[in-house]
Amino acid sequence: MSLREPETYDVVGVGFGPANLSLAISLEEHHANVLTAPITSTFFERQPCFGWHRNMLLPSATMQISFLKDLVTFRNPVSRFSFVAFLHEQDRLAQFVNRKEFFPTRREFHQYLEWAEARMSNVVSYGSTVTAIRRPPEPARSPADDHLQLEISDAVGGGTRVVNARNIVISTGLRPRMPEGVERDERVWHSSEFLEKYGRVKPEELRSVAVVGAGQSAAEITNFFYEQLPHAQVHAILPAYGYSVADDTPFANQIFDAAAVDDYYFGDDRERDAFWRYHRNTNYGVVDDADIRHLYQVSYDEEVAGVKRFHYLNLTKVRTVERNGRGRTVHLRSPHGRGPQKLEVDAIVFATGYDTMDPAELLGDLDRHCLRDESGKHRVTRDYRLVTTPDLNCGIYLQGGTEHTHGLSSSLLSNIAVRSGEIADSIVRRRAEQDLVPAGAVRSGVTG
Ligand code: FDA
Ligand code: NAP
Repeated sequence: MSLREPETYDVVGVGFGPANLSLAISLEEHHANVLTAPITSTFFERQPCFGWHRNMLLPSATMQISFLKDLVTFRNPVSRFSFVAFLHEQDRLAQFVNRKEFFPTRREFHQYLEWAEARMSNVVSYGSTVTAIRRPPEPARSPADDHLQLEISDAVGGGTRVVNARNIVISTGLRPRMPEGVERDERVWHSSEFLEKYGRVKPEELRSVAVVGAGQSAAEITNFFYEQLPHAQVHAILPAYGYSVADDTPFANQIFDAAAVDDYYFGDDRERDAFWRYHRNTNYGVVDDADIRHLYQVSYDEEVAGVKRFHYLNLTKVRTVERNGRGRTVHLRSPHGRGPQKLEVDAIVFATGYDTMDPAELLGDLDRHCLRDESGKHRVTRDYRLVTTPDLNCGIYLQGGTEHTHGLSSSLLSNIAVRSGEIADSIVRRRAEQDLVPAGAVRSGVTG
């Protein structure tokens, strides 16, 4: 641990994915436009360099949202960080427009994110994992003086250091979900680690593979296996009867509009429930229409050719996975034993989705100061701040993990430009308010 006095920042961001990258840009653009003292900020990212779901950058995968829902445009359409500015700088704007398509490939969008990140690299430290957030031992002299301490573990050098933050923005992303009782290993993968694990195996060793799940990740990986491993048997194991289409039709798509956040946040239980009941199929457990049609065509072409290597096991779940030499025996469960009860595979991918971010994991003891609702979930203000006990003046903001308060777009890219702007505005406004409170003054009430 360093003996130097820790540095203090107005904002410390935990994680540097698209959401906190968008926030970093928003804070910078705030400085340029507003005559306040600059907000000091720094971000910590555990990956060795910028990366956005790199293990799912499959060759032909496209974005699930319009290129206009980039890091900035919905907040500041004239920002120099827009996707259009990126295309212009790459000298590719005309060619992009000639495609007449709203959806770039994920590879191109990744290039865009890297391009934007390169302009903000002064505010981020890579290979730096935030391991704990806590209150300092000494009580604050005034609300403006209040701060939290973050402990950071550095991959290079292996050291640990501490920084102080007046505000923290936690944006640590989705957490891979595996079925209970199934452990990952060198032949049992979650989709979030797909390309890395795939790259460690010789393709010719993969003669029988399986993909579990009926969402976008499952469909993309199934197709990838089918195309990349022409010698292999490919098993798609679906809990559903068939892949269902992702509803991206215009009326339904309005749930991802910035305005829908207010409708959700200020709605009553029935209104919120309607979002989930009617529109879960805009995002979860669903697949792009074109991808479904492609997989069906693959299956049909096999019927015509009389050759079968794509095996579609619907209404089927995995019970257990057993090691069998280099391969794995997968025990299956299906109604009335309608399909095979077990499979021998060389690798199996669980594209079984993700859990949302839970800030409690990082907050540790500090979580006692964060208030919860009747169902035990964190209370969050409209400006994405955890509601805390009155003695805690620091802002703990969330980018992600707010589906219960702010709705479906919480873990997606759809609203990050506007959300980051709202968080930046809130930090600036609260600092201005705190600067007016004299030292020694005690705040009353819940900080919501
Ligand atoms: P993200 O997960 O991108 O970033 C979080 C970062 O925090 C990571 O880089 C992680 O390493 C870091 N981190 C975690 N813990 C840390 C710690 N303790 N210390 C330091 N760093 C830490 N949505 C959408 O709207 N359109 C789309 O097209 C897609 N496409 C898509 C593809 C795939 C394969 C997946 C899995 C998901 C999507 N999504 C999506 C949803 C996805 O959540 C979204 O695209 C963004 O990744 C959200 O950005 P965040 O910055 O919130 O999280
Ligand atoms: P997902 O949409 O949550 O789908 C998970 C699938 O796994 C569902 O079909 C689910 O079935 C199934 N499942 C869960 N637990 C299971 C179990 N124990 N046994 C069998 N099946 C199980 O996850 P995802 O496909 O990874 O998508 C996550 C997010 O990433 C989405 O926002 C998606 O749009 C995005 N994504 C985008 C792209 C892209 O941009 N090209 C690519 C991939 C993913 P139930 O529904 O019955 O639980």
